[in-house]
Amino acid sequence: MSRAAPGRIRPCTVADVPGVVDLYNRCFAARMTLDRFRWQYLDAPGARPDLSVVYERGGKVRGFVGAVVLPWWIRGRRVVAVRIQDVCVAPEERGRGVFSAMLRAHCALPAPVDLRLAFPNPRSRPAFLRNALFQPHPDIGVLRCDVETIRRAADAIARPCAVTVERPPRFTATDGAFLEARRRDVDAHGARDTRWLHWRLGPGAPHDYLVARARVGDTLVGLVVAKFYAAGRTIDLVECATGDRPDVAATLLDACVDALSHTRPEALETWAGRGYGGTARFRRLGFVDDERSTAMVTRCSPGIGPGPALTWLLSPADSDVY
Ligand SMILES: CC(C)(COP(=O)(O)OP(=O)(O)OC[C@H]1O[C@@H](n2cnc3c(N)ncnc32)[C@H](O)[C@@H]1OP(=O)(O)O)[C@@H](O)C(=O)NCCC(=O)NCCS
Repeated sequence: MSRAAPGRIRPCTVADVPGVVDLYNRCFAARMTLDRFRWQYLDAPGARPDLSVVYERGGKVRGFVGAVVLPWWIRGRRVVAVRIQDVCVAPEERGRGVFSAMLRAHCALPAPVDLRLAFPNPRSRPAFLRNALFQPHPDIGVLRCDVETIRRAADAIARPCAVTVERPPRFTATDGAFLEARRRDVDAHGARDTRWLHWRLGPGAPHDYLVARARVGDTLVGLVVAKFYAAGRTIDLVECATGDRPDVAATLLDACVDALSHTRPEALETWAGRGYGGTARFRRLGFVDDERSTAMVTRCSPGIGPGPALTWLLSPADSDVY
């Protein structure tokens, strides 16, 4: 921060929240509300607002590095994972190392964090790699499928199940048990705990999530949690537990498109890694690699990784809470 103005970098406090929300709304096209910010940074199970970092100058918050705690299990072990997100610096402070310094300050906090991950954009990516020793994961990317492809896939099959779509969703004990069972089918998985999913899909959650359930008789055979963004033009697949049943997957995804038809969705998207089995299933449905340059970066404690195995673990794991 050689040319930086004499500001102060420190952990975020509850009193900073209105200033951070104002700053966010100056820096991003998307709108942040106080309620939404509190929901994800203060109300989440295990939330640690003090792991987020602010840059303050002249009594005003002018920089923010958000840290959201993700309660994960990796290789049978509970780990503290933190997603770095919502990073922004006021326009008048940019280009003099404020973000880089905040990132280093966050990494130096005395907190037992096993894994930090982020999905930077081209403006923030260099600082992650140069200043805070994050590792890139070029084999994790965005898979994308236009809605017409899913429509055709669904039209081509006899519907194997009945589908219901719920929005806003209410995540149930049955949903939790279904996801847990699906995860047991996979040898190793970066699964999050269901308490966290209950919070994210519970009554206080923002209304841009939906849950689609597929049943044969009374038995749940598929579950999709989706979030829509870009004013509903893109449907982001948060959880897609359909097993090796492309017919169930096509029916569920088609139902998600139907449920959002008023917003004229154009595509479905999901994060996926090349080595992960679920990726092949998405490809069979017509998903293809998106050209987007954003990719995951991570910084791990020595016990966890990095390496191809870590990439495999992370690839199906959604961590998107904005
Ligand atoms: C992305 C963003 C947070 C970067 O903030 P910033 O404080 O300008 O970032 P930094 O100053 O640390 O780094 C940016 C560049 O400034 C220059 N810089 C950094 N430290 C410097 C210093 N001490 N002296 C001179 N120049 C410096 C470098 O060119 C640096 O590029 P590099 O990372 O390739 O080295 C800011 O541009 C922003 O808020 N953008 C809008 C929101 C956004 O897109 N957020 C990212 C979401 S993923």
